[in-house]
Amino acid sequence: MNGMGEGDVKRDEDVKRLIAAELQRQQTTLQMIPSENYASEDVLAACGSLLNNKYAEGYPGKRYYQGNAVIDEIELLAIERAKKLFGAEHANVQSHSGAPANLAVYHAFLNPGDKIMALNIAHGGHLTHGSPVNFSGKTYTFVHYGVDQRTGMLDMSKIREIARREKPKLIMSGFTAYPRTIDFKAFHQLAEELGAYSMADISHIAGLIAAGVHPSPFPFTDIVTTTTHKTLRGPRGAMIFCKENDRLREKYRPQEKKTMAQLIDSAVFPGLQGGPHMHSIAAKAVALQEAMRPEFKKYAQQIVNNARALAETLRSQEISLVSDGTDNHLILIDLLKTNSISKPGFGKQIAMALEEAGIVTNANGIPFDPAPPFKPSGIRLGTPALTTRGMKEKEMKEIGMMIGEVIHTFDNPACREHIREKVKQLCQQFPVYVG
Ligand SMILES: Cc1ncc(COP(=O)(O)O)c(C=O)c1O
Repeated sequence: MNGMGEGDVKRDEDVKRLIAAELQRQQTTLQMIPSENYASEDVLAACGSLLNNKYAEGYPGKRYYQGNAVIDEIELLAIERAKKLFGAEHANVQSHSGAPANLAVYHAFLNPGDKIMALNIAHGGHLTHGSPVNFSGKTYTFVHYGVDQRTGMLDMSKIREIARREKPKLIMSGFTAYPRTIDFKAFHQLAEELGAYSMADISHIAGLIAAGVHPSPFPFTDIVTTTTHKTLRGPRGAMIFCKENDRLREKYRPQEKKTMAQLIDSAVFPGLQGGPHMHSIAAKAVALQEAMRPEFKKYAQQIVNNARALAETLRSQEISLVSDGTDNHLILIDLLKTNSISKPGFGKQIAMALEEAGIVTNANGIPFDPAPPFKPSGIRLGTPALTTRGMKEKEMKEIGMMIGEVIHTFDNPACREHIREKVKQLCQQFPVYVG
């Protein structure tokens, strides 16, 4: 990967120095947080462009400000590319990030108190899927399904049972910490059976779906949200997709004149946001075009191959994984079932030990975690960023061995020093953001 990634801050010495320090961190450590990636030089350039300067409240052809002819073209380009990449009927590219995208969807189709069914946050759902500390949990009535305690996987028959009993108005799939394939079709069929909306939050796996290495929720799912900065490798931001027409209008909104697409658009603006971030929308357009290239398909396949290779190495090191492996880009280490730890609440300490060794991950809850969320018993890690650097199965095996060593020698910080050296060497072999 070429380009400096440093931006071009010239006069503010403080910010310049800090960006340079962060560049060095990103270059010399292994970025294994599964929601992170290295955006391309073009994506970063669009993000840092003068498009930042333009106010464009409204939508193409219907703006509240003058001077938007070029801006309209940019937004239309992003919309067309988004629809084409995913095979969607309608795309809104203005959403600032994943959390507000989900809020916009709820706002468009639900009334406060309406019932949503989603994955338990402690089993891999996102905060916006009904956490009691989040707007979602405070505003709507959530019923949660979980993963099976024995397999760590979703069990559609149990999910159907809960849905038939609870009759939610919206059924959500798509997660933050679930390492297995999602059967979007089964979720949609269940929603159809119950006269509920189906919604898929594909924030984590959008890049895999775009490349065809994970089954797609398109074209059947009613509403799809995604962030653009994870496996899709774009700028910070989000998009919302939906069908043009609301198959449930008669049931829920017989007087409504707006199409489903219009409801989404007006929930984003003026419902929730003000002016769109046009620099970010341009960067989304860039990332969407990159994701259409044949190299991106190879990239996404390699993410999955790498995650599998890493999971196998970890397992061979007697490290326990939730669901015993992975089908996608992420892995969840269960420290409670890993013999050398076997105690609850060690996620943060292990994540810190890994960071000392130059391996950047995040502490995460595991399903049925006896420890509280701020002191969880798992580690979440993934391969999108390392794959962008060009690493393959061979490097995943090396990294898996290093992670194993850090975990098994956790009580002996001296062991981490030689791993830090190995990490530095590996990073030098796979440079990122060098001119
Ligand atoms: C499934 C899912 N939805 C939504 C979000 C929220 O995205 P953002 O952090 O951009 O608000 C995330 C972020 O981690 C996520 O994993």
